[in-house]
Amino acid sequence: MAKHHVALGIDIGGSGIKGAVVDLGKGEFTTKRKKILTPKPATPEAVIEVVAQLIDHFADKIDDKTAVGITVPAVVQHGVVLSAANIDPTWIEFEGEKALEKRLGRDVHLVNDADAAGYAELHYGAAMDENGLVILTTLGTGIGSAILYRNVLVPNSELGHLEIDGKDAEDEAASSVKDTLGLTYEEYVPRLQRYYSVVEALFSPDLFVVGGGISKDADQFLPKLKLRTPIIPATLENRAGIIGAARLAHEERGRHD
Ligand code: BGC
Repeated sequence: MAKHHVALGIDIGGSGIKGAVVDLGKGEFTTKRKKILTPKPATPEAVIEVVAQLIDHFADKIDDKTAVGITVPAVVQHGVVLSAANIDPTWIEFEGEKALEKRLGRDVHLVNDADAAGYAELHYGAAMDENGLVILTTLGTGIGSAILYRNVLVPNSELGHLEIDGKDAEDEAASSVKDTLGLTYEEYVPRLQRYYSVVEALFSPDLFVVGGGISKDADQFLPKLKLRTPIIPATLENRAGIIGAARLAHEERGRHD
């Protein structure tokens, strides 16, 4: 990829909507990250207005040709949002990509947040040296997942919603559950053990990468997990969604040019 390629990434999260211009050669920001608080309620219309403000903010750093990638914490199939586990239910079946393009007057690419983070970790972060099957999971309010094999992202894997022991996996093992129940790492680890054992048995990945805010404390829980598969923390921290969305948008545009 040519060194001068940049794209704009925007990450729509529960508390903030964040954007930055990304150098796609390096996987690094070329601008400061700009964050605007997520409107409450975070209906599609309210969120789209914030995205428009972010694009205005970067107006002098991008042009009409700059690809724009946007994440949402939900399933996105061909630009349509199909789930809303941790976002406003009005997103379900919302034609997100079309609505954004109409409001912004430019092409955008809408992707699942964990897919974007996984793609970024594969190209610029923790999974850069792994050419086999990589599963990234983000532990946060929910559990997001990305399945990556030899540079190919299999989108919308939603492994946070595996049913394990009759329960939705993220309701047992997301880091928000640790916070809500006030669990120590010692108490939380068995939940992660159960979760990753099931995912390992189903997919036999070559590498697990663990993202989400809690990954900064990875040394307190990852070494305690007993798995065949190496399991390592993500390295791009909260930049992963922005960087991955930017790269996916750039590649998507390349397919249509
Ligand atoms: C959603 C996923 C999302 C994950 C992390 C889950 O509840 O279903 O689409 O990737 O949370 O935000």
